[in-house]
Amino acid sequence: MKKFLKWLGIAVAVAAVAGFLAFLYFIPPFDSIPPEEISRGAGEAGPDLAAIADPGERAIAERGRYLVTIGSCADCHATPGPQGPQLKEMYLAGGMKVSRRGVGTHISMNLTPDAETGLGKWSDDDIKRVLRNGLAPDGRAIPGHVMPWPAFSNWTEEDRHAVVTYLRHTRPIAHRIPTPTPDVVVSDPTAQDEGLGGKDYAAADAR
Ligand code: HEC
Repeated sequence: MKKFLKWLGIAVAVAAVAGFLAFLYFIPPFDSIPPEEISRGAGEAGPDLAAIADPGERAIAERGRYLVTIGSCADCHATPGPQGPQLKEMYLAGGMKVSRRGVGTHISMNLTPDAETGLGKWSDDDIKRVLRNGLAPDGRAIPGHVMPWPAFSNWTEEDRHAVVTYLRHTRPIAHRIPTPTPDVVVSDPTAQDEGLGGKDYAAADAR
């Protein structure tokens, strides 16, 4: 009996180790999911670029779409809704709260070409400067912890130009985001989750 239990114990141990190894073997390798796959939903929610008549501009805008997809712009500049981010209806219209401990609480901005609430009145250079060094036209320094411009500052000028060209072809959406108040203390460490949890932080007059 003792012998039997010993062998049973060994068999269980071997089965457990083999099972764990099989589990490791069969789970998908996390790191090899390409960025265009992770943000695919957001990328596909963008505008149809086939309507751009000039083939050169169309190619540049396509490049911009690729960069906006892998740069995850639409993941943060999405408008949260009760069913999750409203990727298509509110494409790049912003309103998601991004909080970082020690940095502050920020609301993602409206990147659509709407003149009053989006980037309509920004020059191409104004947008490129934000992507290059986080400086807004009014002199505000946008923290790299909430808006990952340090990652975009490695892009070439051609790439930043492609992003701007693409943004200009998105649908203008009126959605006013409150003016940033950089010194807000992070009161809610789970705020990032609210992007998925359904609250739109647009200004009260523009929901
Ligand atoms: C991790 C979240 C996140 C990602 C990813 C992100 N942004 Fe932002 N972005 C923000 C937040 C938050 C702000 C507002 C910062 C503030 O309060 O000043 C912002 C601000 C901006 C602004 C300034 C707009 C304004 O009205 O002040 C531009 C332009 C911008 N982002 C473009 C982009 C582009 C283009 C991409 C993708 C290449 C991108 N962002 C990716 C979070 C993000």
